Amino acid sequence: MPSQATIISIANQKGGVGKTTTAVNLAAALAAARVPTLLIDLDPQGNATSALGYEKKEGGSILGAVRDAEDLAGKAIATRIANLSLIGAETDLASLEVELQRKENYLHQFKKHFAPLAQGGKYRAILLDCPPSLGLISMNALAASNTYIVTMQCEYLAMEGLGQILKVAGSLKDAGANPDLELAGILLTMYDARTNLSRQVEDEVRKHLAGKVFKTTIPRTVRLAEAPSFGRTIFEYDPFGPAAAAYKALGKEVAKALGLKE
Ligand SMILES: Nc1ncnc2c1ncn2[C@@H]1O[C@H](COP(=O)(O)OP(=O)(O)OP(=O)(O)O)[C@@H](O)[C@H]1O
Ligand SMILES: [Mg+2]
Repeated sequence: MPSQATIISIANQKGGVGKTTTAVNLAAALAAARVPTLLIDLDPQGNATSALGYEKKEGGSILGAVRDAEDLAGKAIATRIANLSLIGAETDLASLEVELQRKENYLHQFKKHFAPLAQGGKYRAILLDCPPSLGLISMNALAASNTYIVTMQCEYLAMEGLGQILKVAGSLKDAGANPDLELAGILLTMYDARTNLSRQVEDEVRKHLAGKVFKTTIPRTVRLAEAPSFGRTIFEYDPFGPAAAAYKALGKEVAKALGLKE
């Protein structure tokens, strides 16, 4: 029997907390560890698509599958990176939220379309880069996922936003929309070891959510902020820097925790 892919949402309703940076570089790290991986850009901003160096292509996103039941598997493109495929964004993706509202079974649209991708045997991990809101796109992503990663910027009040996303995911689980949904972990991003604030946030999160925070933290580095403008992953742009090492370590941690390697 072909192996099932594990579907992983990268989510946080808060903007600019490292979701896309993590989706792209974790996908690349898994691919480098020979885990066949598909990255799906669910954000109308299309940042994951451009960060990986691809253009928004009309008809290239998941929109057509949801709106007109077009075949989704055929939209995945093999990227230049071995073991990494992409379903990108398109300009019209902004209308996806409205398309979902119109559907009868509006919470389970992604689940319906992603299931054949997950069961086809081609991928072992499917990463979903979610937009910064808890609208129907993110809800559908969480409803379709086996697990989710919440990225969190090490800053003042970061814990407050965290409560909200954990609550929404918990209610999807408890209300039966996705009874098996589990938190893979909270990922601390943009960590600056020189500031007390980063350390304080880390201590607080690890204390309150013991065992649910990834050991790996992602440092704040200029290279990581620059890489997307060149359409390159951190492994291509600064392969020997601390950010590449961190995302490689995260890839290992995630692969082990989720049993992604045969
Ligand atoms: N560890 C880091 N060090 C330095 N810059 C970073 C780091 N992580 C992300 N950035 C930069 O911070 C900005 C926000 O990151 P990113 O786009 O990954 O967040 P996001 O949560 O996906 O944002 P949005 O909510 O808008 O989708 C980007 O310009 C990105 O390049
Ligand atoms: Mg993003």
